[in-house]
Amino acid sequence: MVSLSDLDQVKHRLASARSLVVLTGAGISADSGVPTFRGADGLWRAYRAEELATPEAFERDPRLVWEWYNWRRALLATKGPNDAHYALAQLEQREGRFWLITQNVDGLHREAGSRNLSEIHGNIWMVRCTQCGRVEEDRSVPIKLLPSCTRCAGLLRPHVVWFGESLDPMDMARCHDVLRSCDVLLIIGTSGVVYPAAGFAAIAKQAGAFVGEINPDETPQTAFADVSLRGRAKDLVPLLLKW
Ligand code: OAD
Repeated sequence: MVSLSDLDQVKHRLASARSLVVLTGAGISADSGVPTFRGADGLWRAYRAEELATPEAFERDPRLVWEWYNWRRALLATKGPNDAHYALAQLEQREGRFWLITQNVDGLHREAGSRNLSEIHGNIWMVRCTQCGRVEEDRSVPIKLLPSCTRCAGLLRPHVVWFGESLDPMDMARCHDVLRSCDVLLIIGTSGVVYPAAGFAAIAKQAGAFVGEINPDETPQTAFADVSLRGRAKDLVPLLLKW
């Protein structure tokens, strides 16, 4: 249940923000029908995401990992952005300084029109050559296995960040810059347990930002939030634009 005064407080902060950062996770896409990672649907065959989204798993059995990505791509191909994704794209148009950081690889923020965007875990519709590093978009569903680079014939992998891999340093530097200089951080639909994103609220808070959270459940990020709005992203995010 969301209290009106909590909602008004977040709206008021947004309306007067000079610099706004939004951090999203799988929960924002849950309302589009995309399963979250840690929910009851977070399993594929008998595997957990943590067992497949690793460089070791790909080295051991690239076909198995690609089959999982083909399953995810097939599922995502039937989904589109929801009202929360569109509301954030609108917010970007209104705000002077706005940066959206997403942990999602589904590409739905971009599809909704967001442009000031860091996809810190990559994008499932992009592939990268394991030999020459070339990155390109490939929206075929399914990708024919095993896919190879048109330039050097090397094995292609999904252009996403796996467990144990580093995030793009330039992108991280930009995220830290915007977090340190924002006056409002909104955290939407993330369990807040995977770093580095799990540390972003602390950075913004330490720099003096107001932190708002939107999630049906309490999370480790709740401790940093000035206001936590309990509910679904697709219901609550559009309400924030009504000022
Ligand atoms: P999780 O699956 O861990 O958490 C999803 C969060 O969304 C939970 O806190 C839910 O309570 C919340 N949620 C569910 N439905 C919602 C709704 N309709 N509106 C708002 N919130 C809702 O997903 P992430 O936190 O995104 O990393 O997971 C972080 C990372 O862990 C992922 O990016 C992925 C995964 O392993 C990599 O693949 C590198």
